[in-house]
Amino acid sequence: MPENQTASRLQAGTMLGGQAVSTCAAEVSWQKFSVPYEYPVYFTDALFNTENHVLLETLTRLEPQKCHRIVVFIDSGVVQAKPKLVLEIQQYAAAHSRSIELVAAPVLMPAGESIKAELTFIEQMQKVLAEQLIDRHSYVVGIGGGALLDAVGLVAATSHRGIRYIRVPTTVLAQNDSGVGVKNSVNLFGQKNYLGTFAPPFAVLNDYDFIRALPERDKISGMAEAVKVALIRDAKFYQWLVANADALAVYNEDAMRYMIKKCAELHMQQIAHGGDPFETGSARPLDFGHWAAHKLETLTQYSLRHGEAVAIGIALDTRYSVLSGLLDQGADQQVCFLLEHLGFTLWHEGLEAQDAEGKLQVLNGLNEFSEHLGGALTITLLEQLGRGIEVHEMNTELVAQSIQWLKERRS
Ligand SMILES: NC(=O)c1ccc[n+]([C@@H]2O[C@H](COP(=O)([O-])OP(=O)(O)OC[C@H]3O[C@@H](n4cnc5c(N)ncnc54)[C@H](O)[C@@H]3O)[C@@H](O)[C@H]2O)c1
Ligand SMILES: [Zn+2]
Repeated sequence: MPENQTASRLQAGTMLGGQAVSTCAAEVSWQKFSVPYEYPVYFTDALFNTENHVLLETLTRLEPQKCHRIVVFIDSGVVQAKPKLVLEIQQYAAAHSRSIELVAAPVLMPAGESIKAELTFIEQMQKVLAEQLIDRHSYVVGIGGGALLDAVGLVAATSHRGIRYIRVPTTVLAQNDSGVGVKNSVNLFGQKNYLGTFAPPFAVLNDYDFIRALPERDKISGMAEAVKVALIRDAKFYQWLVANADALAVYNEDAMRYMIKKCAELHMQQIAHGGDPFETGSARPLDFGHWAAHKLETLTQYSLRHGEAVAIGIALDTRYSVLSGLLDQGADQQVCFLLEHLGFTLWHEGLEAQDAEGKLQVLNGLNEFSEHLGGALTITLLEQLGRGIEVHEMNTELVAQSIQWLKERRS
């Protein structure tokens, strides 16, 4: 029955003697099904060495006998750091030509956040897929940092309503956090990640060779997500980060590999067992430090890397946790020392930016955080170093004091 008809009959019913008597008959058939998701997350080296069969096994997992059509989009910053990469991919496909058909030369896309800034890049990639007749049994491979993976993920999720997507994350942040997740997006209307979908990947292939090629700035940036997840979920991992901060600060390979894998696994656990993989509730439990971080990213026109903004957001919310009496005195200094030891700067003038009424602009990040999800404001703070706690209001005066504290610490 159309909705308006239901409404008018109900109204007629309620008028009878002032009693709430419904004359509306309704039948309902509940539709219910669940779809299991599973995808492998590999940790390997030299992914495109022809002897490395990780990609081959991934492509042939469902249909071993078929020749699989693939399109590859690459972050041009990665190609700049690894100029032979395109040739290596072509050689890999040629060496396994019975199973892999690279339908076009790998397509280079803008580096970093700029790919998320313009919808034209999304359309450009969709056009490639349409022209190459990529279907739902073909594969899209994205090779790059979190930004490229987010943008290509959106293309893969929306073209033909979903094409198999293989992520090859190339930054610390993409390997230990975003790459293993189920989200994709681009920025729109001045809002970070406004346009996107939830769409689990077909597989995630982490190759440590890409981490070696990273500039220091991006080696450091992704470590913020490891500190974040350790602080809210895993005291033991937090202690490990403290104990290994010297090694991480010089990008010791064993330490970096462990940090990346452990952090990725903690994110995977949350998605699989946290009860809300597609974030339909009011909380984003893994987004500790992120309400301020996302706002800082937009306030600084993305001159800060996501991880750099997250480090500041973590410092801010840890200080806030102390000021609001949730966390022991001194714990904030410990967390800041760790982050600084890893190479982060815990201050940016953007924290002090004010709007026309003199209000701290970063505070709008709180509204935007809850507007994004809907429902009650839910922010994760700390009650221990290793245990997060959700709160539903933030005292703006204490936020301002936390910002002031960060400013004074800097000098
Ligand atoms: N989908 C999610 O769940 C999720 C989670 C966290 C972050 N993100 C998103 O991820 C993005 C941040 O990702 P990021 O920190 O990886 O930064 P990024 O993707 O912006 O990359 C940073 C820079 O590193 C370059 N680069 C990438 N790999 C390289 C390599 N191996 N060698 C040399 N240079 C390389 C890029 O060209 C770029 O210039 C943000 O847009 C953020 O919103 C998404
Ligand atoms: Zn993040």
